[in-house]
Amino acid sequence: MKKIILDCDPGMDDSMAIVMAAKASDLELLAVTTVNGNYPVDVTCVNARKVLEMIGRSDIPVARGMANPMVRPSPRDPFTHGADGQAENFLPEPSMPLSPMHAVDMIISLVKQYPGEITVLCTGPMSNLAMAMTKAPEIKGLLKGVIAISGAFGLNRYAFANATGDTPQSEWNVYVDPEAAQIVYASGTPLVALGLDVATHFDVNFSEEDIRAFQESDLPEAGFLYQAIQFVHRRGFEAYCTIIDCMAVGYAIDPTLVETIQGHVGVETQSPLTLGMTVLDSRHHHVWTQLPVIEIGAKADYHRFLRLLKQLVLA
Ligand code: BDR
Ligand code: CA
Repeated sequence: MKKIILDCDPGMDDSMAIVMAAKASDLELLAVTTVNGNYPVDVTCVNARKVLEMIGRSDIPVARGMANPMVRPSPRDPFTHGADGQAENFLPEPSMPLSPMHAVDMIISLVKQYPGEITVLCTGPMSNLAMAMTKAPEIKGLLKGVIAISGAFGLNRYAFANATGDTPQSEWNVYVDPEAAQIVYASGTPLVALGLDVATHFDVNFSEEDIRAFQESDLPEAGFLYQAIQFVHRRGFEAYCTIIDCMAVGYAIDPTLVETIQGHVGVETQSPLTLGMTVLDSRHHHVWTQLPVIEIGAKADYHRFLRLLKQLVLA
């Protein structure tokens, strides 16, 4: 079993990522850590517990993380996940307690407990992981890796057309806390960034038959996804919005789902026009080799990804 920590800001798609991660038989979900992002951290740590209780997994600890980005105030999300942050599923208030540990300390402690074994999945801003790497730099070399829904690399027309941050070419998670992303990108820990190029492709949409299967299932997680799809459709968005973060879990289960390329990437932290942009230096000549090298999602097998997701949601 692959040991993972899911660091997230639920969020309807983070909620579905929790469902997938908790149900996948080849993943051991050690903890869910929450962060400010789609919603303030007080909301995201309630939402994480609501989802875990919905699927009967209140045994998985949830730790509250950073309430703000590392050095700047938090922006407001131009795309809303609804009044409750969960596509207006309005799940019951959770009864499971929050962990007494801060998320940053939980990440540090688990990584030290299982050296070389843990992959952190980041489906929100990277504030918690960057703070953990700042507080305990030794964990950079102890992590197995990081898989993140992060960035937009301009590899296809979806990368910027579906930009989620509030600048023309940024992805939301990097846009919220670009300094945190810069720390993680430059950490030397193996990082796979699944950006908008692969995670927001219109091919990730569900068929009418899929949607009916979620509607007709007795499982609450299938009902949750059905409601989320209706919620985004009502607002004129595509169904893929409900499962963007699930690709990080899919990749953790089966890395053959996404082809990656290696590249030098810098994160913009200054310019108001391009704040949060992840700039891939793909030039033939004079490449800025001082920029960190990361793996970037370039091409996904959407058919197999959706099949895996459906199996896990409906199982
Ligand atoms: C990211 O933005 C958020 O709204 C989603 O949860 C996802 O993590 C995609 O840019
Ligand atoms: Ca998210």
